[in-house]
Amino acid sequence: MQVKAPRGTYDIMPDEIYKWHQLEQIIRTTAETFGYAEIRTPIFEHTELFERGVGDTTDIVSKEMYTFLDRSNRSLTLRPENTASCVRAFIEHSVAGGVLPVKWYYMGPMFRYDRPQAGRYRQFHQFGVEAFGSDNPALDAEVISLVLEILANLGLQEYELHLNSVGCPECRELYRQQLISHIRPVKDKLCTDCQTRFEKNPLRVLDCKVASCQEAIAGFPNMYDYLCPGCSKHYSRVQSILTDVGIAYIHDNQLVRGLDYYTNTAFEIMIPLIGAQSAVAGGGRYNGLVKECGGPQMPGIGFAMGLERLLLAMNSQENSRTNPGQLDVFLALLDEKNETRAAHILSGLRRAGIRADRDYNHRSAKAQMKYADKMGARLVLLLGEDEIQKGVVTIRDMQTRQQSEVSNEALIAAIKAILE
Ligand code: HAM
Repeated sequence: MQVKAPRGTYDIMPDEIYKWHQLEQIIRTTAETFGYAEIRTPIFEHTELFERGVGDTTDIVSKEMYTFLDRSNRSLTLRPENTASCVRAFIEHSVAGGVLPVKWYYMGPMFRYDRPQAGRYRQFHQFGVEAFGSDNPALDAEVISLVLEILANLGLQEYELHLNSVGCPECRELYRQQLISHIRPVKDKLCTDCQTRFEKNPLRVLDCKVASCQEAIAGFPNMYDYLCPGCSKHYSRVQSILTDVGIAYIHDNQLVRGLDYYTNTAFEIMIPLIGAQSAVAGGGRYNGLVKECGGPQMPGIGFAMGLERLLLAMNSQENSRTNPGQLDVFLALLDEKNETRAAHILSGLRRAGIRADRDYNHRSAKAQMKYADKMGARLVLLLGEDEIQKGVVTIRDMQTRQQSEVSNEALIAAIKAILE
């Protein structure tokens, strides 16, 4: 029986990869202009890191982790997200003793045992940033403006920024109690998930997508009205900076996020155009997480964006660029006697950084031209007996359809001039 890719995973084939390279390049460059440096953490971590970091009542930890025992009976988990790993690395490398804030970015695969559908996979890719060591609301605004800058550089203009404050552990606890006492009398009207989670995690009922849950909690108190003076001041400051720099947002009382570590600012970016899985990015502050994971008291803030969803959005907004092709130059070998000359030309081109290839399958001249076209080669070099005699190569420009003879010595310079 044929073995297929596991459910929720997929191959990125070579004719699609250029889109990923473009996306990754634009994102990296933008993040670096904001002062972020790349960190790469392991794909798997001790399971306990996510239980403590992300929270064991969250859907991610309770239902969606790929957890396994290794041969020494250690419980390990494929990372479902990367904030907890960054926090671990921050503590493990004693980064807190250096210059703060520290600004990191990452890009790579994450794993969640989610129900696959368009825009939702079991292995997916995130780009994210984490900034440790400042609780200045200006940093919250800067992190949000980085997401928007990335979207702008990707040519994505139609999005919504949802913003909320989930307060600090003190004011959130008061709100939590209030919410539980309001939910308890209407408990029976909730979906089965919410019936089991509302005592432990009542805030999750707020962003439950089931209509009957939303009806049952309509008019219930909002976190906003329970923010303590410190949290309220922080949130007002974030809002006013965003307004000052011209960033439009929607204050969203229902936005609570699916991970337990958030404090104060929480935000999500939606692109409704891409369908049900419209959240392309999400993040917020986590001022207690470093301490929770065994480090010093240290504020932090970050976000992550789903690369698959960004690509979906780019495709649906028809902003995707055309495939630049795999080759710059294709060498058409018209006589097998010229093998050695061909090998010299090819290695010279490749050393000069020109993407070059040749025919290995004894195709006819016509078939070689067709193949060159398919590979997206801008130029075809013709090397026949005539050329060898004269010490030249014929260059055919596939765009202008013009041909010219160039001496062996002048070949690389001539090709570079055309390609540039
Ligand atoms: P998250 O909201 O769980 O946050 O994920 C961030 C983004 O990853 C989502 O907005 C979505 O675009 C993408 N994503 C999540 N799950 C899937 C999936 N199954 N398939 C495809 N894309 C998906 C976090 O992960 C936090 N660590 C973000 C953060 C960083 N907060 C602070 N710092």
